[in-house]
Amino acid sequence: MVELALPKNSRMSEGKVWPRPDGANDLKEFRVYRWSPDDDKGPTIDTFFVDRGDCGPMVLDGLLWIKNRVDPTLTLRRSCREGVCGSCAMNIDGTNSLACTTGMDEVDGAVKIYPLPHLPVVKDLVPDLTTFYAQHRSIEPWLKTVSPTPATEWRQTHDDRAKLDGLYECILCACCSASCPSYWWNGERYLGPAVLLQAYRWIIDSRDEATGDRLDDLEDPFRLYRCHTIMNCAQTCPKGLNPAKAIAEIKKMMVERRV
Ligand code: SF4
Ligand code: SF4
Ligand code: FES
Repeated sequence: MVELALPKNSRMSEGKVWPRPDGANDLKEFRVYRWSPDDDKGPTIDTFFVDRGDCGPMVLDGLLWIKNRVDPTLTLRRSCREGVCGSCAMNIDGTNSLACTTGMDEVDGAVKIYPLPHLPVVKDLVPDLTTFYAQHRSIEPWLKTVSPTPATEWRQTHDDRAKLDGLYECILCACCSASCPSYWWNGERYLGPAVLLQAYRWIIDSRDEATGDRLDDLEDPFRLYRCHTIMNCAQTCPKGLNPAKAIAEIKKMMVERRV
């Protein structure tokens, strides 16, 4: 019989319960996924008690308080701490979101934190986004033109510029792709909601002159057509964007150019 071995970071157990801080009277419990490739053991859920009187109100503040005051080995990504860079995306209380824009008060009881689901884990709360970024690069997310470059700038009307609203705001946090069941199961071949939203952003840019090539590139049973309109992506996006709508628009353009 074939022996199936689970990946060593897939078996979860209770981890360390770290001591409560002395003298604190406003504590918030954090239950945090921990796994390191340097340890020969499965992941654990560590319990921490954050002193809310000694840190800011957001989940990221709590995690940084833990890192600075309790366990410096806790590993996570963050940069802007104001919802712009997308690097602090993680699963908070069952929802993919940004730790810096999610308040501790928004979570009843303990704050349960995991890395973005269905992505390989580098360490603790850091997912491996190598494939995600390669997929983003594959849609060539830059202005492509054949006309002579204008002396000053590529111009567009206000109406054409407005078509980019709801698209340009994407911060590539990957919350949507990591919530999409189609991306979970076909992440190597299906581009996923974030990258397809980006693809549409360039397809409908009035200044871009490679629309046909861009659509050709997506005309594939996996790259585009694995979206089954489950809508998890739109529900989870911390910027309030709707990747499913962008995907539907691309599919519509595919149909229109055939007739
Ligand atoms: S609508 Fe499409 S892209 Fe969005 S979660 Fe569902 S299958 Fe994924
Ligand atoms: S569409 Fe929203 S959830 Fe998806 S990558 Fe962009 S900002 Fe993040
Ligand atoms: S730290 Fe930049 S989005 Fe959260």
